[in-house]
Amino acid sequence: METMQACYYTKYGKPSVLTIGSLPRAQLLAPDDVLIQVYAASINPMDYKRREGGFKAVLETKWPQIVGYDLAGVVVLCGTDVKQLRVGDEVFACLPHDRTGSLAEYVSVSEYYVAHKPKNLTFVQAAALPISSLVALQTLRRLELSEGKKLLLTGGSGGVGTLALQLAKNVFKAGTIATTASLQKEHILTRLGAVDIIIDYSEQSFDQTLREYDCAMDCTSEAKKCMDCVTQGGMVASIADTPPPEALDDFPELGGRTSCCLGMFLGCLSYSVKSKARSKRLNYEYVFVAPNGEMLTEIAGFVDQGLLRPVIDKVYPFELALDAMELLENGHLTGKIVVEFSVGVSQPEAE
Ligand SMILES: NC(=O)c1ccc[n+]([C@@H]2O[C@H](COP(=O)([O-])OP(=O)(O)OC[C@H]3O[C@@H](n4cnc5c(N)ncnc54)[C@H](OP(=O)(O)O)[C@@H]3O)[C@@H](O)[C@H]2O)c1
Repeated sequence: METMQACYYTKYGKPSVLTIGSLPRAQLLAPDDVLIQVYAASINPMDYKRREGGFKAVLETKWPQIVGYDLAGVVVLCGTDVKQLRVGDEVFACLPHDRTGSLAEYVSVSEYYVAHKPKNLTFVQAAALPISSLVALQTLRRLELSEGKKLLLTGGSGGVGTLALQLAKNVFKAGTIATTASLQKEHILTRLGAVDIIIDYSEQSFDQTLREYDCAMDCTSEAKKCMDCVTQGGMVASIADTPPPEALDDFPELGGRTSCCLGMFLGCLSYSVKSKARSKRLNYEYVFVAPNGEMLTEIAGFVDQGLLRPVIDKVYPFELALDAMELLENGHLTGKIVVEFSVGVSQPEAE
């Protein structure tokens, strides 16, 4: 049996449940699948939240569970129904919620989730984009951000924030953009050229000073505070607060797992955010990222036009993936952490 190195866990828990070791090599599971040799993969808070069991009521886990949504690599095998991709294509992808596992030498996934890598980015840079740029673009669209509108975005220095700010300024042509970050991140945010007001959250609470914003994107579980800064009729979208049950309705990979008790549970947890929105006459939505290759092609276009570039905090060799996870979980990053594979292992025969 052919094997591959992967970073995985076999039960929920703390970082100590993670292992790097050999697993059976990924295989095509459907005619529209491609097999990708992973050159680089980035990690996200979703990875450790899932490992801790935080999503177990919503997302099914297949054991052993390989870590990771994001990857960049090269297509080494195509299923019989694959139409857009060829062996040898350089690609990047955000894996669907029910087939995660990018911290492995090989990944198989439907071509629906895969796009050609932006030409002027390395594999490491491209791997830093998928989930963060997708959730950023999907949220800014949900906010109906448009030219001249005032946007508040909390957590501007994170993996999502650094990309959302650039998209807001360069693609959506927002007017004033305010963000929250710690003081030492100010120079990096200024260099992005996408922010007008930076609030040092350790010194000042943004909800005391910011007013009359058209919309807000919450990346720090502060949706209720954002509501004090947005005008009546405006909108707040969170990617970090508790999702109300209806936010998960559009995900076939969840297999209807949000029914009954879970729906009631999420409904209770998200009640106070929704009721504050109602009392302030604001629209409120939680956005759960929808992996999508066509949208990644659009994002690659923004990169090619110089409108978007990834911000990378640190790159680790795959052998040190557990250290990379530890750094991610300790927080205080600026942008993304990427894990790089030493490529050169033997490739499977093309079909
Ligand atoms: N809904 C979805 O589909 C989806 C998808 C992707 C991510 N997410 C969620 O979105 C959130 C952000 O993700 P991410 O990848 O950007 O995380 P991240 O890269 O870990 O970023 C966190 C950033 O926020 C800063 N920060 C921490 N507390 C802050 C505060 N109170 N105010 C302002 N900045 C603060 C941190 O720096 P300092 O601590 O140094 O200030 C760090 O730069 C996470 O909760 C993640 O799980 C959701």
